[in-house]
Amino acid sequence: MVNEQYKSRLSAKSVIRELAEYATARGEEIGYENVFDYSLGNPSVPTPKAYDEAVISMHKDMDSMSLHGYSPSLGNTKVRATVAASLKKRFGIDYETKHIFMTSGAAGALAHAIRLVTSPGDEVITFAPFFPEYMPYVNDTGAILKVVPPSPKDFQINFTAFEEMLNEKTQAVLINSPNNPSGVVYREETIKRLAELLRQKQKEYGHDIFLISDEPYREIVFDGMECPYPSRYYENTLSCYSFSKSLSLPGERIGYIAVHPKATDADLLALICGQISRGIGHNCPSATSQMGIAAVIDQTADLSVYEENRNLLYEALTELGFTVVKPGGTFYIFPKALEEDAVAFCQKAKKYDLILVPADNFGCPGYFRMAYCIDTEKVKRSIPVLRKFVETEYPNR
Ligand SMILES: Cc1ncc(COP(=O)(O)O)c(C=O)c1O
Repeated sequence: MVNEQYKSRLSAKSVIRELAEYATARGEEIGYENVFDYSLGNPSVPTPKAYDEAVISMHKDMDSMSLHGYSPSLGNTKVRATVAASLKKRFGIDYETKHIFMTSGAAGALAHAIRLVTSPGDEVITFAPFFPEYMPYVNDTGAILKVVPPSPKDFQINFTAFEEMLNEKTQAVLINSPNNPSGVVYREETIKRLAELLRQKQKEYGHDIFLISDEPYREIVFDGMECPYPSRYYENTLSCYSFSKSLSLPGERIGYIAVHPKATDADLLALICGQISRGIGHNCPSATSQMGIAAVIDQTADLSVYEENRNLLYEALTELGFTVVKPGGTFYIFPKALEEDAVAFCQKAKKYDLILVPADNFGCPGYFRMAYCIDTEKVKRSIPVLRKFVETEYPNR
């Protein structure tokens, strides 16, 4: 018999994916250049040439088995060592090969991390606004996702609500900074306060509480800022990373979990992930992707375009009267809609071929997300359209 739980999801597919499909279909009708598609976080800047060159030379020079054979179940050992050394140099934490587990992107990292530190019935707390896929990522493991309401003035953590939600069933806290969808980077004081509270609650409850830090946007920060690295502040941290956004290669499906060397059972956690893979079939990312990222480990794509797009949109949106927190990173901006019902708002925007994502599924009704990982030229052309939309649909705002 077909699993009813999954079957029922067919009628509640990802809003982001549906809008992206709509944008593609509309593009076929009127030319994609005329669709202002702010739906999907699919990076537009090219992957560094060095990545492609490394993969091409691998294909020329390596023997078939090294290139196409299975890699070890925890990932290619040399690649894991390269990741550990890079993190150690950058963040001053003594990672070793044994602390790194290679995954299929951040999605694969989170699939393992959640199973690693929770059992069915346990609670995982996250903070609104949050990436909607956290619902299936967590709930499909049998653990329960609890969402702390947002703090709309700056989208930092709402500590009052968080403290109320923490309880003995809390086994993990899932954070994402820089954040999809708000673009907000958690301040150092936010991370410090979070770490202090978790240490206190670990003592009080007599068990570990793991911090699962989802970091695919770690490198995309603006105004010369550095994103505070949560592992520096809390030892029971699993850093879940993806190269999808920093190297612009989400289709390659490559990322990792970095276990803090002082986490409880640190030496075992990557090994246990290898056992988790056996059950979920999310095992061993592509060998060439692993070797490819190792060849460019400290590089990124040219991410500067995102800051330029952020500046253009932030200025335009504030000028048009939107309430919006200035993003400190990512390629998302998260304004308040001009009517209470953000779904209706985004529906109206479609008439202008503006594809905006309502944030109800992000745990923040009344807001919408724009993914501005698109050409700057298109962002510029979208601004008069945005103006026309606002002035026509909301003349008395
Ligand atoms: C916050 C967040 N976490 C996880 C993911 C999944 O990343 P990946 O595609 O690298 O698996 C995404 C992708 O957009 C994301 O925005």
